Amino acid sequence: MNDVYILGIESSCDETSISIVKNGKEEIVTTTLSQIDIHKKFGGVVPEIASRSHAECITIVIEDCLNKANMKMEDITAIAVTYGPGLAGSLLVGVEAAKTLALCYNKPLIGVNHMAGHIYANNLVDTMDFPLICLVISGGHTEIIYMDEDLSFKKIGSTIDDSVGEAFDKVARVIDVPYPGGPVIDKLSKIGKDTYDLPLPMDDDSYNFSFSGIKSAVINLVHNEKQRGNEIRKEDLATSFENIVVKTLTKKTMRAIDEYKVKELLIAGGVSANSGIREEFDKLCKEKGIKLVVPKLTYCTDNGAMIAAAGYYYYKKELFSDYSLKINPSLDL
Ligand code: KG4
Ligand code: ZN
Repeated sequence: MNDVYILGIESSCDETSISIVKNGKEEIVTTTLSQIDIHKKFGGVVPEIASRSHAECITIVIEDCLNKANMKMEDITAIAVTYGPGLAGSLLVGVEAAKTLALCYNKPLIGVNHMAGHIYANNLVDTMDFPLICLVISGGHTEIIYMDEDLSFKKIGSTIDDSVGEAFDKVARVIDVPYPGGPVIDKLSKIGKDTYDLPLPMDDDSYNFSFSGIKSAVINLVHNEKQRGNEIRKEDLATSFENIVVKTLTKKTMRAIDEYKVKELLIAGGVSANSGIREEFDKLCKEKGIKLVVPKLTYCTDNGAMIAAAGYYYYKKELFSDYSLKINPSLDL
């Protein structure tokens, strides 16, 4: 087969990101315009502003990506775009841009599930070896997925309430850490001590998670300490919180690895950037003699490269979309 160059378009939340990836593995160029600074002052992503910003910059970001790659649209094999899950207005901008390019340049159009993209960010690090377990941890998801072939996603567990990313962001807000809180909690946890007692949630036989309990425990703890006139030791609370999260995620994931007898573990999604989570899984997988693949830090947050990487496998399976492709803000894996 000739080399396949996929143009990946990601605009599901607050990053406008375009990539060209060769054969699902080799990132040629990625151009990303992040809106974090715009949304920071509101303490979270404002959907209306996000979609408007995508609309303003998407053509410039596409052009910049092609220029940096020294390529033309004629050199592109197919166009892959996130069509869900995500913010409706933001998704629309990417999908409409992809359809327009596909129509104008007569290229195949591929609608990609954003969460499949997060999983395939790992394919840019190492080729997937099936069967595998993937722990998907992001701002909207906390799931354990079993895969025995490309694009086959069997969900064996998920959160029953908040996602782990939401818990990081809410805890950050309670201790007055700016948005997005996850990376800051991660940094604070490195200098703190595990001194606060927090509950280990859903410590049961299922593969499901629950994070609203820890979140409430942190809110109550901060409230009570304030009422007693005690100062919160932010870094200690960050360490205590992160340790509980790590314990919850590792316990169930490592059990799934045993039960499903897989060859490797992948971690995917924005929270996979967390150093505590990476270190503990690294240690546990080494002890068990199982391969661990984690995305490069730049591929943890939303990016076009992961969409193009996943898009390659849709292309190989001829899973093409037509111009009626619609966004699906609550698309499941
Ligand atoms: O995957 P993502 O970029 O967006 C979604 O698709 O949801 O994930 C964003 C989430 C946010 O909740 C952010 O706080 C969290 O990932 N995050 C982290 C870290 N970096 C990003 N959480 C913990 N530690 C980090 N280092
Ligand atoms: Zn994401």
